[in-house]
Order: sequence, then C-alpha cells, then structure tokens
Amino acid sequence: MRRMMIAGNWKLNKTIGEATAFADVLAKRLVSHDLRDVVIAPPYTALAAVSQSLSGTHIAVSAQDVFYETEGAFTGAISAAMIKDAGCTYTLVGHSERRLYFAETVETTVKRLVAAKAVGLIPIFCVGETLQERESGRMHDVLRSQLSALATLDFSANAVVVAYEPVWAIGTGVVASESQAQEAHAFVRGILAPMGLSETRILYGGSVKPSNAAGLLAQSDIDGLLVGGASLNITDFLKIIAAGQPGSYEDWFDLQFP
Ligand code: PGA
Repeated sequence: MRRMMIAGNWKLNKTIGEATAFADVLAKRLVSHDLRDVVIAPPYTALAAVSQSLSGTHIAVSAQDVFYETEGAFTGAISAAMIKDAGCTYTLVGHSERRLYFAETVETTVKRLVAAKAVGLIPIFCVGETLQERESGRMHDVLRSQLSALATLDFSANAVVVAYEPVWAIGTGVVASESQAQEAHAFVRGILAPMGLSETRILYGGSVKPSNAAGLLAQSDIDGLLVGGASLNITDFLKIIAAGQPGSYEDWFDLQFP
C-alpha cells in the first residue's frame, strides 16, 4: 500500500522567522493527523531551524537540492551529510529549475542520487517534459532518459520518491488534466517496475491548488503531490493535505490557530 505524500517546495522563499512560524502553525494543526506523509522543503538557511520546530511531529523536512561531493573546495555547495545533519529526511533531486538554471543533467542527477543514498537521505527525484518536448512527441523518451538515472542505483522502493512535474505546468497556473497526469504516472511506473520500484511513490507536481488536488489524488497512479506556490500559504497547504479525504477541511484541522 503506497502511503500518500504531500510535499511543499518553498523554492527561494521565506526567511528563517517566516519558515519557523509556518512550521509551528503546521505542526499545531496537524497534531493528530497521520494519514498522509507531509514534507516541507524550505531554503537551506532555514533547514535546521524548521527541523527543530518540527521535531517530535509527523512532519518531515526536505532540502531542495544536494551537491554530490562529500567535502572540499566546492564554494557554495552543500553535501548530503550536511543536509542530514540539519535534520532532513528527504532532498529534492533534479527539479526542473535546477535542470534549467543550474545545468543539472542526467549524469549529475545520478551523482546526487548516489550521494543522498549514501547517507540515508530519501531523494524526491523530479522528472518531467517541456511543452516543446510533449508537442513534438518526445515526452516518453525524455522521461525514460531522466529516469534512467535510477537504473543502476539499487534503491529499495521506499528509499526513493519520484515526482512527475511537467515543466509546462510548473508555476504557470496550467495544471495537467487528471487524465494527462494519470497517463504520465502510469508510464513512469512502467519504467520503474523493472528496477524493482513499482511500489515507489510517484507524486504529481505543477500548479497544484486546493481546487484541483482531490481530482489528481483520485488517480490510481498518483501517490501524492509536490506543491510549489500553493505550499507557501498555510491555509492552501492544509486544504491540499486534506483534499479528497472524507469530511471537510474544518473537520480535519483544529482551526483555533491563526
Ligand atoms: P508550482 O511548483 O506548484 O508552483 O507549479 C511545483 C514545483 O515546482 O515543485
């Protein structure tokens, strides 16, 4: 049984104070909620403080990227051991913004996955095609190529999470339709299966909002959501965590906190 995961990717947002204030409210609201795994990915500067705020809760913390070397003269880089030391359980790897702005390639994602695995960090490994790749019929080849990074790494199914994030849906307000997302997720699962990863969770990401979360989560191969913009707002993020569950959002969370 694949347990649903809702992960918030804060990208380049929130000071330490803003991040810990959010984490404190989230922890208070989710106190008796353990039906879905909840993860937040603050910027590096806030990782340790947020991890401390969330210690003893069900909510886990993720880095947004990890460098692959363990130490040395790599100015600006952060290692997997440092991320672990800051209290993280997860790290994103291969987000499309890293591929676009920071020259991430299939080869460097392999190195990052290896580095994360070596210290027991669970990678949330992001893949997804651009609009041009989709429209020119290359979507399946692109996903196959990006996912090939996992092929020889011998992860157990629970030691890695995959996120399908069509680049054209990220931050654009254009969400993939439920059937487009389901079709891509089924394709991704088909690639993961021969790697022994058929039970690995596959999250959908790209313009997820409270209004579309339940429909996406109802798809058979969607095991959770990776939420960017909407995870910055506590009410929207809580609504997405509760989406599609029996009962209302108000039933789920203690709303006495602001
Ligand atoms: P978005 O970002 O929800 O703002 O589209 C998703 C992501 O990049 O992980």
